[in-house]
Amino acid sequence: MTDLEVALEDMLAVERFDPPAEFTRRRSVEADLAAANADSEQFWADAARDLLTWEKPFTQVLDDSNPPFYTWFADGELNLSANCLDRHVAAGRGDRVAFHWRGEEGERRDVSYAQLLADTERLANGLRGLGVVAGDVVGIFLPMIPEVAAAMLACARIGAVHNVVFGGFAPSAVRERMEVSEAKVLITVDGARRKGRRAEVKAAVDAELGDLPALAHIVVVRGPGEHPGEVPMTPGRDIWYDELLAAADPHCPAVSLPAEHPLFILYSSGSTAKPKGILHTTAGYLLGATYTHRMVFDLDADTDVYWCSADVGWITGHSYIVYGPLSNGATSVMYEGAPDYPDRDIWWQLIEEYKVTVFYTAPTAIRTCIKWGPEYPGRHDLSSLRVLGTVGEPINPKAWLWYHLVIGGGRCPIVDTWWQTETGSVLISPLAGVTTTKPGSATRALPGISPALLGEDGAPVTEGTGILVITRPWPSMLRTLYKDDKRFVETYFSRFGPTTYVVGDAARLDADGYFWIIGRIDDVINVSGHRLSTAEVESAIVAHEAVAEAAVVAEPDEQTGQAIVAFVTLAGDRVGDASVEAELRDHVARRIGKLARPRRIIWADDLPKTRSGKIMRRLLRDVAAGRELGDVTTLRDPAVMAVIADRVRGARDDEE
Ligand code: WT7
Repeated sequence: MTDLEVALEDMLAVERFDPPAEFTRRRSVEADLAAANADSEQFWADAARDLLTWEKPFTQVLDDSNPPFYTWFADGELNLSANCLDRHVAAGRGDRVAFHWRGEEGERRDVSYAQLLADTERLANGLRGLGVVAGDVVGIFLPMIPEVAAAMLACARIGAVHNVVFGGFAPSAVRERMEVSEAKVLITVDGARRKGRRAEVKAAVDAELGDLPALAHIVVVRGPGEHPGEVPMTPGRDIWYDELLAAADPHCPAVSLPAEHPLFILYSSGSTAKPKGILHTTAGYLLGATYTHRMVFDLDADTDVYWCSADVGWITGHSYIVYGPLSNGATSVMYEGAPDYPDRDIWWQLIEEYKVTVFYTAPTAIRTCIKWGPEYPGRHDLSSLRVLGTVGEPINPKAWLWYHLVIGGGRCPIVDTWWQTETGSVLISPLAGVTTTKPGSATRALPGISPALLGEDGAPVTEGTGILVITRPWPSMLRTLYKDDKRFVETYFSRFGPTTYVVGDAARLDADGYFWIIGRIDDVINVSGHRLSTAEVESAIVAHEAVAEAAVVAEPDEQTGQAIVAFVTLAGDRVGDASVEAELRDHVARRIGKLARPRRIIWADDLPKTRSGKIMRRLLRDVAAGRELGDVTTLRDPAVMAVIADRVRGARDDEE
């Protein structure tokens, strides 16, 4: 065993990590907790006055007269981009770096608050010139470049509703999201690069979205790097981003908007094939992002250099790359590339170079780094780090300890932040330097948040496992599913009534009142912290002409948390072989994105069905996880499962 392995082994026995003394001296949040416990509405109202700059002060706080349709600060007015930009520039901090951007080929660009404001104002005017008015939807499909922040902020400045699609999604997924949200403008890029390869994004977007009736304009950013070849531009519809900015009036005063003005839609996977358009509004969302970014990470905007390694296409990027950090006036690192390009030490090189103090990433990334070995971080001076965060999935204690020792040098508190696209901001998490942590536990609720565990029957669980719910509204909660109030109520507020938000996760409460998140209890799979719907992947597979039927479940995976297994019945007398398998995986990548490609495809002559024809996914989950099969007597043909179980064992043996 290496010294590190010995140290990890020893530490596995440690159950609690007390906050380092230098933190506890720095700040105490006990006052917030006490205030929130005494009166959570008053607490949030005070925080909203304290942290946000209002054009028109609010007099109402929470309106809960029509649950689950809650409003916060409804008679107040503000502008989110003014909170993220203008107020810092006005306070003399215009020269402060908002983003230290780093390109995949090593390019450096520092974007100051003043520069970001200037770009945002011009783009906002440019969008207006294209006919965008408050309430219109603007799609954003961009890689990790500073323009993505300007695009989001420009929308917020004029009250347009942005709809960002993760750059790794396929153009057909972009089409679906633009179509259902009736986006008027799409902001995208000519081409994007990944590990030295180039994807012709604009051409692919044209092929998929060219005929959308509502989509009047496509704005095209010239992405970093070489630009070989012609980019197709349709006159009258398409316009270059830089030309739009150059021609625009540089001055665009921020529009004063009602607190509940819609800010963005972000599509996320649910239990059907149709993604859910999660809708967030202005003030409550910004308050959640601002407050939590400051408190959870113990942020000091004057001295910290913060880096969240997520992509802006996810909620983590919205709240903790763009809105939280900018509202707090922080300096962040933004990195375009992959963690192993040009080499596996690029992240640690960036931390050393920019002297990053607060680093926020996902457990799956940590597990990948563990696999690569400690020599990559070992090559760099990581002593600037003082707080580490994780998000997206449960972190196993071993990965937690490795993060703590190898990356944090044993001195940095780890904040395991639990939240969701729907919650807008972190709800359950340690506060860096305040909370005693336990590896693997997201610990306790933040001030002003009321989580609880319920049994199947709705009775409260005070210790043990149960269904995670939030019993009181909070400012950054989703307001509805875009144009689908009915699905909003059904998905989150039907099981235990209209005032109890059902999260979709199971969790355990220990004797200290600490939460341990177990995972999803619906048909959602968490692959590397990315949420995918089994139904969505199934419908993509079934859309292939060779396929008769498919069922998708998750199997546990050391690296990615969960991995996708697809059980597929082919049409007619097609035979499942390696070439059909490759074709299917490729087909899913084209329809949804690479991250939805099944890890394993198991050919089945038939799927396990009840007498009424319902596929019993429970049995498939058992078989994929290598568990004993549950009750098969309700199956129409119990023999089907024996064949499938055999094939799964065969596939596993082949791998070993
Ligand atoms: C689901 C939400 C929140 C941004 C990233 C994912 C899981 C999230 C944790 C954590 C255990 C976690 C839950 C949740 N999850 N954070 N710290 N510990 N599980 O956002 O795509 O909306 O997914 O991710 O299952 O419900 P999302």
